[in-house]
Amino acid sequence: MSQGAAAPLLEVRQLSVILEPHSGPRFEAVSGVSFALRPGETFCLVGESGCGKSMTALAVMGLVPPVARVSGEILFEGKNLVGCPERELSRVRGRRIGMVFQEPMTSLNPVLRVGLQVSEVLEWHLGLSRREAMARTTELFRMVGIPSPERRVEDYPCQLSGGLRQRVMIAMAMACGPRLILADEPTTALDVTMQGQILSLLRDLGTTMGTGLLLITHDLGVVAAMADTVGVMYAGCMVEKAPAGALLGKPLHPYTQGLMRSMPTLEHLGKEQLDTIPGAVPQPGNRPEGCLFAPRCPRASARCAQRPPSIHTEGREVSCWLYADG
Ligand SMILES: Nc1ncnc2c1ncn2[C@@H]1O[C@H](COP(=O)(O)OP(=O)(O)OP(=O)(O)O)[C@@H](O)[C@H]1O
Ligand SMILES: [Mg+2]
Repeated sequence: MSQGAAAPLLEVRQLSVILEPHSGPRFEAVSGVSFALRPGETFCLVGESGCGKSMTALAVMGLVPPVARVSGEILFEGKNLVGCPERELSRVRGRRIGMVFQEPMTSLNPVLRVGLQVSEVLEWHLGLSRREAMARTTELFRMVGIPSPERRVEDYPCQLSGGLRQRVMIAMAMACGPRLILADEPTTALDVTMQGQILSLLRDLGTTMGTGLLLITHDLGVVAAMADTVGVMYAGCMVEKAPAGALLGKPLHPYTQGLMRSMPTLEHLGKEQLDTIPGAVPQPGNRPEGCLFAPRCPRASARCAQRPPSIHTEGREVSCWLYADG
């Protein structure tokens, strides 16, 4: 929910992530991406696979792979996290910024009881005793809707369903009362009912605690239900950034238009064939000089051989020559 003119919680300015793999060419996984998020707001990142959404979120957490170089600014509560020593970042991560990933099995330790995994976070960041931390963990499990939390804290991850594991991840992300939660496709692996419950949990955090949410999703239904603002990424660049209502009502960038015809929504599921955008995202190291989307764009013209500027129009930012003349 929008909080008017509150200072940004997160302000990402000209973020670039350059990957230098041991084999293969170096390439920009994220190129000059900028956006801001205020307390209580949800910013959704959308785009096809490989467009740099996860890498953007990982950069905010300071968790990019070792072959990555990050430049630009990531101002969290006014402090630049780029170049911040690991010692300081580890105090922010998990305490001021929580994370929820798509597949909780890869983020939870399979050989530790789930209650212990959450209570260790509380002991580490907040200095609680084991007993206090376990009591708080049980309370968190109750808050995220895990039935019989006193019993469930004793379970190992494999004893829980996918939906319950994702609730444990959300409990862990919420544990220290973070100001910001990064959620990378948090509901993709869940059925529709569970998906709705998890999303309303995340939304409630924004409403009641003013927690900001950076949400990555492939689902336009999720965007419509959750987003205040949407950023559309293509081949590492933010090609359109707009208030959710404006973007869903009238996408401007031809890529956003194609994406909207190709993205599933709850209503679409199983009912009709979705369109696909012809062609594929350009391979790293083989990106066109001009507009990155031009080779796939139904409206491309000669001037698309030049990289388009970022244009402010109709209350949004769009990188497309179609809007260059006002
Ligand atoms: N650990 C890594 N090492 C090298 N390249 C990577 C690594 N992780 C991601 N990449 C590359 O970085 C680019 C951006 O990937 P990213 O994971 O951010 O995409 P994404 O938009 O999250 O896609 P998806 O929707 O599939 O999750 C891709 O070209 C990907 O192949
Ligand atoms: Mg991803």
